[in-house]
Amino acid sequence: MGAGIAITGCGSAAPESILTNHHLAQMVETDDEWINTRTGMKNRHIAAPTESLSQLSAIAANKAIAMAGISPIDIDLIILATSTPDDMFGSACKIQGLIGASSAVAFDLTAACSGFLFALITASQFINTGVHQNVLVIGADVMSRWVDWSDRTSCILFGDGAGAVVCQRARENSLLSFGMYSNGSQNDSLNLNYHGQDKPLVDGITAQQGSYNPISMNGREVYRFAVAKVPEAISKAMFQANLTADDIDWLLLHQANQRIMDAVAKRLKIPSSKILSNIAEYGNTSAASIPLALDAAVRDGRVKPGDTIAASGFGAGLTWGSAIFKWG
Ligand code: UT7
Repeated sequence: MGAGIAITGCGSAAPESILTNHHLAQMVETDDEWINTRTGMKNRHIAAPTESLSQLSAIAANKAIAMAGISPIDIDLIILATSTPDDMFGSACKIQGLIGASSAVAFDLTAACSGFLFALITASQFINTGVHQNVLVIGADVMSRWVDWSDRTSCILFGDGAGAVVCQRARENSLLSFGMYSNGSQNDSLNLNYHGQDKPLVDGITAQQGSYNPISMNGREVYRFAVAKVPEAISKAMFQANLTADDIDWLLLHQANQRIMDAVAKRLKIPSSKILSNIAEYGNTSAASIPLALDAAVRDGRVKPGDTIAASGFGAGLTWGSAIFKWG
């Protein structure tokens, strides 16, 4: 078997409860029209207190594994991209237990909304070097647990969900090119910061204990960053893969704002009909947004085996990345 990867299965899951723009208008000073015209969002799914990130991820993972035609025991690596684990020690192993992938090693990876793409690229490295054969990549976030529900500039944006893909070693490489980037000097633009209080332990030694502040975001700055860096990252990946915009069947972007997706498509000269968007239904689900949108498009038949997909994730860090891959 050669050293390439094929993406052979996908799956997704979202909580049942739906928070509409009209609901948000009851909570903060906003309205359906503002949210819809500025972001393209109408609904977002919100995890109930009884639901967990691990449960949602396990549902998405089982669907992806079933589509790939393998069983959980065949999975030898699980990478969970999340910024909102159920457990600060990580939730990948919990998911491993829930799906019965007892031959796998599992770990979390944090790169905010770029997390799924970074995890997919990481998975490809383990497959290309021959270390792993069947890798489960999950992107999942329960942002509703970390949003400031009194801040209208950010609470309208986020929702919860999980998406997964199975990557397998294959003769031909379906991941045609990729790039990963970060810029720590803009770290202050988007944070979910630790906040603690001093706790004196003994004379001369003080520890700190606390929790996390809700999400804080400079929306305009993140917007500007995304419309500048995402087209650049995709253009570089297209160049590396020796492809032009005409070769791209689908544009699969992190679902942060419909206006960002439209601006990126325009800049790349890719028709807007090729944008895979589910933002109206789910809002911004952070690491889950790319696999959620992919799964919907595969299951309703828009994305077909052999289609070329240009994907890009971007967000806190700031981080961003691109990947061009063939589906199936
Ligand atoms: O995963 C990555 C994470 N984040 C992002 O990708 C976010 C990227 N940024 C964005 O999507 C957009 O910047 C937002 C959707 C967050 C904001 O849209 P905008 O067109 O950049 O609006 P703005 O921040 O420039 O605000 C315009 C006005 C302001 O009023 P003034 O100062 O002009 O009087 C805001 O106070 O809209 C006001 N505003 C709102 N009005 C009604 C802000 N939020 C709301 C709201 N409802 N929810």
